Amino acid sequence: MLRTRFTEVFGVEHPIVQGGMMWVGRAELVAAVANAGALGFITALTQPTPDDLTKEIARTRELTDKPFGVNLTILPSITPPPYEEYRQAIIDSGIKIVEIAGGNPATHLSHLKDHGIKVLHKCTSVKHALKAQQVGVDGVSIDGFECAGHPGENDIPGLILIPAAAKHLTIPMIASGGIADAQGLVAALALGADGVNMGTRFMCTQESGVAQKVKEQIVANSELDTKLIFRTLNNTARVADNAISRKVVEIEKSGGSFDDIRDLVSGQRGRKVFEEGDLDAGIWTTGQSQGLIHDIPTVADLVTRMIDEAEDIITGRLNEIVAAPVTARS
Ligand SMILES: Cc1cc2nc3c(=O)[nH]c(=O)nc-3n(C[C@H](O)[C@H](O)[C@H](O)COP(=O)(O)O)c2cc1C
Repeated sequence: MLRTRFTEVFGVEHPIVQGGMMWVGRAELVAAVANAGALGFITALTQPTPDDLTKEIARTRELTDKPFGVNLTILPSITPPPYEEYRQAIIDSGIKIVEIAGGNPATHLSHLKDHGIKVLHKCTSVKHALKAQQVGVDGVSIDGFECAGHPGENDIPGLILIPAAAKHLTIPMIASGGIADAQGLVAALALGADGVNMGTRFMCTQESGVAQKVKEQIVANSELDTKLIFRTLNNTARVADNAISRKVVEIEKSGGSFDDIRDLVSGQRGRKVFEEGDLDAGIWTTGQSQGLIHDIPTVADLVTRMIDEAEDIITGRLNEIVAAPVTARS
């Protein structure tokens, strides 16, 4: 058992989180994560309406009696979704943990806290983590530059970002981005984190609803096979290297505007990748951690393996390094 401030404050068994994932964070995956003793988040905006979110939460409850949460992602959008209505659906469903990503958590915080909901805020910089702590969130999840999705514009990898944030934060902190195994978990704890958040690794499990071809492509991909799009829009996103993302980068480099890439990057095209396994249909989110992913396990096997191996690393190899006489080390 690994006990941290995160497991205590958020009431979960293991210091492992499955962060919100558009098109991926659905009942089957989230329930499997909860049943494995980790913390899974349903992705609110994957559900077309707040009413559908209510139904998805109910569906998850049929599959697990363990705690799980809902992710609410606030990103620049041409037609913003009805955030307040999604928030109300979360509150009315009796959810007790929410992950807010992207926007300023203050907008939603008091409404959630009034209903005894614990809030984990996901951000990409020390500055925003400290701001979130100041406004009263219960924990922060910090994405390093390695991560799938939106790494921010500062390009600071986790090896720097996590200890830099740990130095200032007093609330539990989750390290996110580039973590896919026990080594990553132990490293994150050593850097000062209270747990880890994984996206790509959980997307590549048996219970994840994405097409088998996507999972196989993640296993086949190396850490080199991602592209950064939307750099010119100050809304960088790390996605899979494919025909579409290469085209988007090319258009951006040649001075194109959002209108020139709008169709290529549409959510509906990305959805086709995940649902039909048509890998070049659109852009699809994946992180550099795919270079560390070599199989498609069940969620339970993944979580058990990570915890067991993390304990082995801490009590075995690391302990031996401390205990071994200098001569034995060389
Ligand atoms: C397919 C996919 C979709 C994602 N969508 C979201 C999202 O809607 N909201 C969000 O906060 N994070 C999203 N993320 C980011 C993850 O929650 C997590 O922060 C990230 O994957 C961590 O990096 P890793 O993939 O290296 O583990 C997504 C990640 C993936 C792989």
